[in-house]
Amino acid sequence: MTDAVGETALWTLYHRSLAARDPECGLADPKAVELVEALDYPFAQRFGTDNRGWARGMAVRARCYDREVRAFLARHPRGTVVCLGEGLETQFWRVDNGTVRWLGVELPESAALRRRLLPDTDRCRTLTGCLLDERWTGEVDASDGVLVLAQGVLMYMAWDCVRALVEACAVRLPGAQLVFDTPPAWFAAGTVRGWFRYPAGYRPPPMSWGMTPARLRELRACPGVAAACARAALVRTLVRDPSALRTRPPPRPARRRPATPHPRGALMTTLPDEAEYSCVMPTNIAAIRALDKSGVFVREARLRHFAHIDGIWHDMLQYSVLEDDWRALRQNMPVRATCTPTAN
Ligand SMILES: C[S@@+](CC[C@H](N)C(=O)[O-])C[C@H]1O[C@@H](n2cnc3c(N)ncnc32)[C@H](O)[C@@H]1O
Repeated sequence: MTDAVGETALWTLYHRSLAARDPECGLADPKAVELVEALDYPFAQRFGTDNRGWARGMAVRARCYDREVRAFLARHPRGTVVCLGEGLETQFWRVDNGTVRWLGVELPESAALRRRLLPDTDRCRTLTGCLLDERWTGEVDASDGVLVLAQGVLMYMAWDCVRALVEACAVRLPGAQLVFDTPPAWFAAGTVRGWFRYPAGYRPPPMSWGMTPARLRELRACPGVAAACARAALVRTLVRDPSALRTRPPPRPARRRPATPHPRGALMTTLPDEAEYSCVMPTNIAAIRALDKSGVFVREARLRHFAHIDGIWHDMLQYSVLEDDWRALRQNMPVRATCTPTAN
């Protein structure tokens, strides 16, 4: 895994293993911890050790995907889950119900590493191939329902390729659901400009796009796509299948976002359903004061040398508000502070 995008699989694995060791992250993933210990790779030197914010973000993302899989398996216990660009994700071991069939699609080098560490079984296997090459769809047993996941990978592809992938799924896997995540546009732009860097030198590779309403409309217009919706960073497309549509529950009312005005200068991003994150520079005293006074944001971490702006490295303070905190606030209950703020 020497290429930049392949290395991101080690990056996400490492953060999931950190999250799994942190009880506040709520991610039970002993297999990730096991893999990090088994791999001869300098995780701490490459990615650092002071990564609480990233680990939390990765845990939220993993939990969101787990929830999608569990909801799918409740309806299709023997269904097939396809993980595009699966890397060293250990989700199968987090959600296995004993009957699911699991198919990962990975590029040759990463597929070989995965198979070495996590050998194929009768229900869980890795296919070598490019996710943009629709031949993988021919390997999918669609008899009991199909859920396609693309966790942490489509942002590295050109948008036209992503749209073509959605079209291919719509044509070749009728009735399937595709779930993927995208960064906010500001974050994608930051990776292109090289803003984000770990003290040891690692930089996430450029992410070429973020979801926008116009792109969502493009997905909805793809032939065969029945519906496409974005819940914060998670996008779900439902491939056309009239019978599936008839039995779908009515859409949930949109979740209300916190009415707290985002302080000027704070970068705001959202993760699906569970948490809302805000990053602010330590020098932005007014924004920090507003976040501290909001009564709902909790300071999570100081992300050291997080952004490279105008030739200077800046730390960022990361705040979050969880959905439960927000509900509690609306019901005039005390907000549950879930972590200890770090010192400036
Ligand atoms: C950020 S990692 C995500 C891995 C995993 N989904 C996770 O969340 O931990 C991106 C993965 O996508 C894989 N990948 C990149 N381009 C791909 C392609 N064209 N076809 C299949 N896999 C690809 C990389 O090898 C890498 O393992």
